[in-house]
Amino acid sequence: MTTTDTTTSGKREQAVTDEVVASFAGTKDDRLREVLESLTRHLHAFARDVRLTTEEWEAGIGFLTRVGHITDDRRQEFILLSDVLGLSMQVVGINAPADPRATESTVFGPFFVDDAPEVPLGGDIANGATGTPCWVTGTVTDTDGVPVAGARIDVWEADDDGLYDVQRDGDETAGRGWLRSGPDGGYRFWSVRPSPYPIPYDGPVGDLLTATGRGPMRPAHLHFKVEAPGHRTLVTHIFVAGDPYLDSDAVFGVKDSLVVDVAEHPPGTAPDGRALDIPWTGVHFDIVLEKAS
Ligand code: BEZ
Ligand code: FE
Repeated sequence: MTTTDTTTSGKREQAVTDEVVASFAGTKDDRLREVLESLTRHLHAFARDVRLTTEEWEAGIGFLTRVGHITDDRRQEFILLSDVLGLSMQVVGINAPADPRATESTVFGPFFVDDAPEVPLGGDIANGATGTPCWVTGTVTDTDGVPVAGARIDVWEADDDGLYDVQRDGDETAGRGWLRSGPDGGYRFWSVRPSPYPIPYDGPVGDLLTATGRGPMRPAHLHFKVEAPGHRTLVTHIFVAGDPYLDSDAVFGVKDSLVVDVAEHPPGTAPDGRALDIPWTGVHFDIVLEKAS
């Protein structure tokens, strides 16, 4: 329930909000007008709610300025800010598949790249990324269980130092690639066992986490982006069961349905015939795509 503040200052503050909202009346794009009017109302309500001081307003402007200054082609501090405030996961939720049979989505993150290498079915995306080998298998189906052949599956992950290739100096591609599901919807590839890692915390977003006593860690995960004609694109991860950070993900991305067991295997022969003289791991993840509406 909204209450109207009938004091003189309350009326003056409301008049400012009303005036700004009215200023958007001539916006030709209906959706743009709706978004700007609502943004104005909520932003003003926030300032009035906390009785924002001039010093706090200046500190906020200074913070956003630092977020802008550290952002470049390789670092997106605004998305990181959205992530740690949970806004990214709100947007994921608002736009989630309507069909509960579909695989749940989660945050995209800043480390996807468009031109990752293609690997064949059963290929290895590690390409020098360090860590325990991990054999990843699954199927891609639609919500009626019909196999989706030829789906494009992009995968990317950090190495066991907790770094993505794009966080290292140089142009080496490692820990990422894409493949297509087979005629039966099946997919399989080698990667490395996912490791927990901190989101970049050497900038203003890290300062915010420190000031609020929050940690930067994300639980171990492997990213997926799955596209197939006639289906909604899925952006998700799998998380490793038992990871100590599952309940404190810095970006609130964990969903129970995405937590999977990682099987530990001694040295030996893997299901694809690969001979390993070190321990290896395996994980299975079936992907269900919602049909495009
Ligand atoms: C990631 O999982 O890659 C990620 C997501 C949000 C912020 C930083 C990293
Ligand atoms: Fe990640």
